[in-house]
Amino acid sequence: MLANRRILLCVSGGIAVYKAVALVSKLSQAGADVKVIMTESARQFVRPLTFQVMSRNDVFYDTFDEKDSSVIAHIDLADWADLVIVAPATANVIGKLANGIGDDMVTTTLLAATAPIWIAPAMNVHMYDHPAVKRNIQQLHDDGIRFIEPSEGFLACGYVGKGRLEEPEKITELVNGFFSREMLLKGKKVVVTAGPTRERIDPVRFLTNFSSGKMGYAMAQAAAELGAETILISGPVSLPAPSGVKRIFVESAEDMLQAVKTEFADSNFVIKTAAVADYRPKTLHGQKMKKQDGDASLELERTADILHYLGTEKGKQVLIGFAAETNDVSRYAKSKLERKNADYIIANDVTESQAGFESDTNKVTIYGKGDFEQSFELLPKQELARQLLKLIVEREMRNDR
Ligand code: PMT
Repeated sequence: MLANRRILLCVSGGIAVYKAVALVSKLSQAGADVKVIMTESARQFVRPLTFQVMSRNDVFYDTFDEKDSSVIAHIDLADWADLVIVAPATANVIGKLANGIGDDMVTTTLLAATAPIWIAPAMNVHMYDHPAVKRNIQQLHDDGIRFIEPSEGFLACGYVGKGRLEEPEKITELVNGFFSREMLLKGKKVVVTAGPTRERIDPVRFLTNFSSGKMGYAMAQAAAELGAETILISGPVSLPAPSGVKRIFVESAEDMLQAVKTEFADSNFVIKTAAVADYRPKTLHGQKMKKQDGDASLELERTADILHYLGTEKGKQVLIGFAAETNDVSRYAKSKLERKNADYIIANDVTESQAGFESDTNKVTIYGKGDFEQSFELLPKQELARQLLKLIVEREMRNDR
């Protein structure tokens, strides 16, 4: 699967270095050409010779040791790679890269790399949770770097928690997936909306819903993985932006409408995963409403239906809506497809356990024009998003859009 793929593995110092040796072995067995750079700390755990034997390539660790005088090693390695993986990545190397520091062979090469960079952290659970580390990870996410999340389990320091380097088999599987997925959306622009909206009542209160943003963020990540220029218009949620995605935060349905309008004209796909409020308070109180004796009532007015608006305006764009239903899922989804002039409606029955709002998994049926209908089993939202998007893009390519 990985024949002729050039993978540059940057190894930083932690006990998980031994797993990096297994990773080189797996990648090489799959046919990849692997080159390894080590930090000084990594060399305290495993000798470069081990990586040299596993990769059948020279191992690099000294910025000033130029093995080939016709090139500058760290620039040459950066240019050579189709994919750069940092595994294990310590808090130190993450912090340096997030702050643009290049003071050794690994970090100078990372700064010079234009190929996608994937970081697989491994550290103590409290280090991984430290606000500074979290800030640096968020910064790197925003810079378009993809993370392979550490798994949970026994850590070398004696703690049990999140911080174990992902298994080499799993990383190899992800690398395989990366290279086998064609960049189906290269040159295309995808706009995704995600999360809830907030409709203010007064300075301290608002109307909202249970959307966590997970499904929409997964759709945006899937679009970016397929090579799309991806714009994520997000209501208030606390998720990190997926790698390679431009995120625009909005608050209300009206804000979301304006942001979508700005991005719509030159977009190719618009995916409306957001749970947009259908109503907002008719009056926005400038000061906190005081409680009074007896009941109170709130007068509501309709918000703009963004999907409906896009359906009336659309030209070449493929318009994909979601539908959160509690009953008669198929009937309501099909009616939304028609009424909103969407190309697809992805319906979830939000009464099903582990599906819909807030969960990490979802179970959906997609409906399209011409009675197209396909159901998916319960899947993690990220995997489901990949399958949904691939299905839509391949169908649309057949329609020659
Ligand atoms: O965010 P999570 O916790 O992961 O949950 C995911 C989800 C359940 C929110 C998601 O899968 C989902 O179903 N999103 C759509 C929810 C919804 O608002 O459905 P709806 O049936 O009310 O609206 C239908 C479509 O019209 C949606 O694409 C919606 O974005 C759009 N709409 C709705 C109202 C409005 N004023 N403007 C809109 O554009």
